[in-house]
Amino acid sequence: MLIQRASDIASSEITPEDLYHSRREFIKTASALLGIAAAGTIAPGCTPNVGASPEPQAKKLGPYDTAEKANSFDDITHYNNYYEFGVDKSDPEKNSKKFQPKPWTVKVEGMCNKPGSYSFDDLIKGITVEDRIYRMRCVEAWSMVIPWQGVPLADVMKKLEPTSSAKYVEFKTLLDPNQYPEQRRSLFKVLDWPYFEGLRLDEATNPLALFATGLYGKPLPNQNGAPLRLITPWKYGFKGIKAIVNIRFTDKQPLNTWQQQAPNEYGFYANVNPKVDHPRWSQAQERRIGEFFKRPTLPFNGYSEQVARMYEGMDLRKNF
Ligand code: MTE
Repeated sequence: MLIQRASDIASSEITPEDLYHSRREFIKTASALLGIAAAGTIAPGCTPNVGASPEPQAKKLGPYDTAEKANSFDDITHYNNYYEFGVDKSDPEKNSKKFQPKPWTVKVEGMCNKPGSYSFDDLIKGITVEDRIYRMRCVEAWSMVIPWQGVPLADVMKKLEPTSSAKYVEFKTLLDPNQYPEQRRSLFKVLDWPYFEGLRLDEATNPLALFATGLYGKPLPNQNGAPLRLITPWKYGFKGIKAIVNIRFTDKQPLNTWQQQAPNEYGFYANVNPKVDHPRWSQAQERRIGEFFKRPTLPFNGYSEQVARMYEGMDLRKNF
């Protein structure tokens, strides 16, 4: 792989939203000026000193980061899927204001040497929080670019010591009807609660997999899955289970919420695949939130180099 190891990225590499945008403006201006200079319109000697950083705090991109323009904090926190708070994209922001992400306990069970109840702090203790600017492709054919902060899932897995029999890991969201309005319904339930998800262990230990704890340098907003949420950027967004309270290691491939609801539409793997359409719509293109024209969807959401080898020899039409 051409990428650095995760441990090479400093936790201090956190760039607030204004710096993301001003960095882009700086790069645009600098490139424009350099372009003019190269064309001979102004002499190189007259070119402003673009090499001297006007933004001492701007950080360089990490090896896993996309250079694409990040969506605004407002987009990322007001256009959400979190059905526990309602099915409209604006419901999670409106209905999650009183959600309590602290204190938080995660129960670890199943085939591992370190089962038990972990506080949020204990679970991530000793693991460096990193910046990751990832694309997110929702199965509904929209996408965003999100600057997350979080801990590599591989490090959490290592800490919990799955046994050699463990092949998969399952995650569950909090079940708490007092905090989640949709979990209070007895009729016309939108999903069976709690929301749950699963990964193969090699997927969970892939360097791209993250437990997000923040975005844009702020603690993870409630509507984005505070305090702890899964990020697997090569998979459709629904794999990114929010508000995780349970981690279970198993030797059997677990179901996930959407697969359980509609097995003909959603599978276990949910790898982004422009060639395998959803039964009700095409997956060939996507709409980046904030953009007008659609763009082509990339295999594995553009992360083939990091993940494709995990699926070698598999029929990705059957294993969708
Ligand atoms: N996790 C829980 N617990 N409940 C949900 O409804 N929705 C999923 C995923 N995680 C969901 C969830 C879906 S469909 C998507 S696309 C992403 O969260 C959306 O994440 P975002 O709101 O941060 O963009």
